[in-house]
Amino acid sequence: MELLPHDSHTARAVRELNIGFFSRMIRQSPWVRMKMAASLDGTSALHNGKSQWITGEAARADGHAWRARACAVLTGIGTVLEDDPMLDVRLVDTPRQPHLVIVDSRLETPLDARLFSPAAHGLPRQIWMYCAVDDEAKRSALTALGAQVTCLPSATGKVDLAAMLQDLARREVNELHLEAGHKLNGSFLREGLVDECLVYLAPKLLGKGAGLSSLGPLDRLEDGTALDFQSVDRVGADLRVIARVQGRDHFLHG
Ligand SMILES: NC(=O)c1ccc[n+]([C@@H]2O[C@H](COP(=O)([O-])OP(=O)(O)OC[C@H]3O[C@@H](n4cnc5c(N)ncnc54)[C@H](OP(=O)(O)O)[C@@H]3O)[C@@H](O)[C@H]2O)c1
Repeated sequence: MELLPHDSHTARAVRELNIGFFSRMIRQSPWVRMKMAASLDGTSALHNGKSQWITGEAARADGHAWRARACAVLTGIGTVLEDDPMLDVRLVDTPRQPHLVIVDSRLETPLDARLFSPAAHGLPRQIWMYCAVDDEAKRSALTALGAQVTCLPSATGKVDLAAMLQDLARREVNELHLEAGHKLNGSFLREGLVDECLVYLAPKLLGKGAGLSSLGPLDRLEDGTALDFQSVDRVGADLRVIARVQGRDHFLHG
């Protein structure tokens, strides 16, 4: 599809600025940005599940600004059960709330989960849940709370994540902010569905716990996900690293 003239710095800058829109138009899939917060030694949650808060206030506010620019925020059932998060934009001003996507194979999201309460700033949002095993009773209870449930099973009995991304593109999601635990992050990475990593690193060492993703174990270094660093910035006491998965932004080159 011809959306802009080629070979001009302006065209490239415009594509970068609207990376999610171009991703959806050209690839029929959102731009997937995986946000993670970890200690300097890569621990994203302690052995007992605690992860709030690894990073400081400034990094958390910065994370909310990235949520705010996304069309939707996505998490997994593990994070819903452990943290009972709202996943709305609270720490920065926003004219709208991103929609919320929950990957929940067996529809185990508790009916009293906080995510069903009104989002911050009194702004509406949709809640889209994707499951792999349909259950009429659970579906009706969740629908009564305002969620829209879609069953998209994969051959392995989990949610078909690639099909879900296409469905989200049909719902006009340009940028998708993935904010899940290491298991769902690992699934996205293994299936080659992550475009960019947004990683906050705290100046502390937490030792053994959950890592950033459950990718692997790999036998060969060359089998790792290769990234290109885009930027490294200090945000409060923490570092923010943005890195792109190699080759994922080729569609921007026209
Ligand atoms: N530091 C951070 O940035 C950060 C961010 C979010 C959460 N966390 C922490 O992460 C921990 C939770 O981690 P987690 O890994 O359990 O949570 P999660 O990644 O949010 O969700 C895990 C669940 O996702 C499901 N899953 C994985 N691949 C799937 C697929 N293709 N389709 C459907 N479901 C799939 C699995 O369910 P099944 O077993 O049913 O397949 C798995 O139990 C908590 O301690 C939380 O505090 C940290």
